[in-house]
Amino acid sequence: MDFELKPLPYPDSALEPHIGRATLTLHHGKHHQGYLAKLKELIGGTPAAEEDLQTIILDADGPVFDNAAQVWNHDFYWKSMKPNGGGEPSGRFRLALERDFGSYEGFRRTFLEAGEHHFGSGWLWLVHYEDRLRVLTTSDADLPMVYQATALLTADLWEHAYYLDYHNERPRYLEAFVDHLLDWEFAAANWAEVAQKAPRSRNGRATRFVAGREAS
Ligand SMILES: [Fe+2]
Repeated sequence: MDFELKPLPYPDSALEPHIGRATLTLHHGKHHQGYLAKLKELIGGTPAAEEDLQTIILDADGPVFDNAAQVWNHDFYWKSMKPNGGGEPSGRFRLALERDFGSYEGFRRTFLEAGEHHFGSGWLWLVHYEDRLRVLTTSDADLPMVYQATALLTADLWEHAYYLDYHNERPRYLEAFVDHLLDWEFAAANWAEVAQKAPRSRNGRATRFVAGREAS
């Protein structure tokens, strides 16, 4: 895999005033870079370093899994946002959202409540799982691909994502994410690809995901 940090898909001040430049600079340049550097330290020079990131994640446990998953999660998070994003989606994807959450407002409420009620660090996801759109949260570095769910969109729930801008007020950060930042075109493109994919999973983890983490 490539151990170089991918640049942000927009300037580091592009998400202001909702996510400030200082947050993005630290989050990308220190936290995301830190996970990548740690992963390189752990697997550099080993056969695992020649694998792609998804294979490393699905084959690993412990610190290798944690750091590899955090690299993937952050790459996905940056792409889940854009300047002047948020609001309501359109087209076929909107119909799917309405089918599975009742309405756009139903999705918005489910997403915000799941993120607000998640205890501690983790990630808030919109995923495609068993032909439905679902909202779920994962703890620490955990992520949908190990449960055969396909990530469509994510919000980082670690405090480093919002503390400088919102202090401990995670709900305000999440409202800004939904109403002003999230990139529905990215989510819809991921959704459109799902039918052609058959994600790998690790045996035994799908049940825990279905039983304990789903928010809708
Ligand atoms: Fe983060």
